[in-house]
Amino acid sequence: MTGSIEIDLVSDTATKPSPGMLAAMLAAEVGDEQRDEDPSVLALNARVADLLGLEAALFLPSGTMCNQIAFLVHCRLGDEIIAAESAHVFGSEGAGASALAGAQFRLIDTEDGIFSAAQAAAAIRAPRHRSPRSRVIAVEQTANRGGGSVWPTQTLGEIAAVAHANGLAAHMDGARLPNAAVASGTAMAAHVRGFDSAWIDLSKGLGCPVGGVLAGSRGFIEEAWSWKHRLGGAMRQAGFLAAAGLYALDHNVARLAQDHDNARAFGALVANSPGVSVFPREIATNIVFLDVSGSSLDAHEIAARLRTHGIRLGVESATRMRAVTHLDVSAEQAVRAGTLLARILEEAGPRQA
Ligand SMILES: Cc1ncc(COP(=O)(O)O)c(C=O)c1O
Repeated sequence: MTGSIEIDLVSDTATKPSPGMLAAMLAAEVGDEQRDEDPSVLALNARVADLLGLEAALFLPSGTMCNQIAFLVHCRLGDEIIAAESAHVFGSEGAGASALAGAQFRLIDTEDGIFSAAQAAAAIRAPRHRSPRSRVIAVEQTANRGGGSVWPTQTLGEIAAVAHANGLAAHMDGARLPNAAVASGTAMAAHVRGFDSAWIDLSKGLGCPVGGVLAGSRGFIEEAWSWKHRLGGAMRQAGFLAAAGLYALDHNVARLAQDHDNARAFGALVANSPGVSVFPREIATNIVFLDVSGSSLDAHEIAARLRTHGIRLGVESATRMRAVTHLDVSAEQAVRAGTLLARILEEAGPRQA
């Protein structure tokens, strides 16, 4: 079905490895990853630990596994994780925190996926036999369902301090941390400072086919290794995949600024169309949400019309759509998609009351 899609804005996971990345993968030096003998994996782990300013790192098959292993290490049965209501760890990981780590969530309602240290502090429970033990504060940089919003580094530092002052761990889902670093002009390590665990996804904006890298203290990664193995995430000649990650860190980080410009251009083209409102108003990174409840077309109909032109947008509900820019969408294509969507909305007109 995706064969006829030329401009795929459903997610930044849609990228395919570039010829340069494929060449790097083919040339990779590999070994047995389970035995810590794969030089490419070891190099990637060292590189990410250094980038995030943490002691050690671990290559994993997916971002979801990075989050779940972090919770498995940090939590014991009955613990509580504080996170935004819109967080991926809560709504999009198959209830992994409860199914695997035996932890439950205490959720904070937010507009853009970002909460303050004061809100986090208010969510920490006083120790009581009958209460769950507050154990982790989890943030998502950037906040996906918050419209790709970027947590200020100061807020992140305050969150880590509140966590530690109360005996909790601070965890960062950094699926799009590289986008946040580029958008804010601040090194990834500055975002992670004070956090006990953090990870980056290779298969989103960085354009790799597979993988995430989880980082933390040496002790944390030692325990994470056991969980990686237990869950079947320990691999063999994984260096072919790690080589893609190393290539991406060399070639695909600074260029994320282009994706952010493309998202802004797309958003600006549709912002004044009838029946639509664009969220966030100030597009910070590569994610744009559209509320089409005021249009005479619902989101499914709009998506179907775009599809006939080879353009795909995410449909979240009958009134909500999402567009995500990435490495495989050029500036011209982002403008073409925005122009066409604006035309469709213009022709359809607003919904009659
Ligand atoms: C914020 C966030 N966290 C975690 C993940 C999970 O990553 P993966 O698809 O690599 O498991 C995603 C994927 O979309 C995400 O957007």
